[in-house]
Amino acid sequence: MRDQAETLRLKMQQSISMGKSIAIVSGKGGVGKSNFTTNFSNMLAAYGKKVIIVDMDIGMGNIHILLGKSSRNSLKDYLQGDVSLPEVIFEGPNGLHYISGGTGLAGLLEWSNLMFTRLLTAFENLQKNYDYILFDMGAGATNWSLDLLVAVDDIIVVSTTEPTSVTDAYSMMKYIHYKDREKNFYLLCNRVLTSEEGTDTLNRLKQTMSRFLSKDVKILGSLPEDKLVYQAVKKQVPFSILYPNAPITKTLREITYRFIEGNMEEVIVPNQKNKFISKLRSMFSKGSD
Ligand SMILES: Nc1ncnc2c1ncn2[C@@H]1O[C@H](COP(=O)(O)OP(=O)(O)OP(=O)(O)O)[C@@H](O)[C@H]1O
Ligand SMILES: [Mg+2]
Repeated sequence: MRDQAETLRLKMQQSISMGKSIAIVSGKGGVGKSNFTTNFSNMLAAYGKKVIIVDMDIGMGNIHILLGKSSRNSLKDYLQGDVSLPEVIFEGPNGLHYISGGTGLAGLLEWSNLMFTRLLTAFENLQKNYDYILFDMGAGATNWSLDLLVAVDDIIVVSTTEPTSVTDAYSMMKYIHYKDREKNFYLLCNRVLTSEEGTDTLNRLKQTMSRFLSKDVKILGSLPEDKLVYQAVKKQVPFSILYPNAPITKTLREITYRFIEGNMEEVIVPNQKNKFISKLRSMFSKGSD
């Protein structure tokens, strides 16, 4: 499968007019990837970009639910060869497109070479037709979905401020980094109670990557803990559409603008960095390699 991932990457790099492919990942699950993906995509679309979300949480897809849509066909149907690519692409709000991961655990995917070929074809096609292709990577990191990460341009790593989430985010980046040292990582801290704790967490993670893996990662920013997210999920409308003037939406708008412009902030919090690094070091020396 590693060879296949390499093939996939080379193919993606060969595309003539290439859209940017971005995977949204976390270490620990449930940190807000799908909500971020949905709203970030909506913001990119609001900035006039052609965007498609691919829900890689096959069999447990959330994206179509968060967009308030139902979709006849899912990525699984396409991969299995039951339908064509256009038949799995649906339209959400703001001209945003998406491919659903599908629901129904009973039909979970068994990965095959044929599916890989179909995924490859889909990627090539999507890269020619969209400015941004966002892969919401889902909770269960399977081998093939991890291999897929090698093929994308950028990785957005979502973490909360909890140490469990932060150490798992580091482990995930380390795993990907060892597979591909050229990858661009962007850090997003979600559900922060104060902007300071978000900045603090992001800078510490960035410094840890620099110190232990000699890898420079970019800081996207922090999103606050906000009950509007919950309310928007219940209404099945992205919070950035339902509450366009809420502070969380304004922050996301700024994050999206900086991402498009490639203008990432790099704030260093003095004093605390060594404490965090030694904490992480002790955690990893206890065996969570
Ligand atoms: N900024 C936020 N403020 C408050 N609640 C949030 C925020 N972001 C996400 N949540 C809540 O966290 C929960 C998990 O969110 P989400 O499904 O997006 O996470 P996920 O990382 O995609 O999960 P999984 O790993 O299972 O795919 C949801 O109940 C959502 O409403
Ligand atoms: Mg999810």
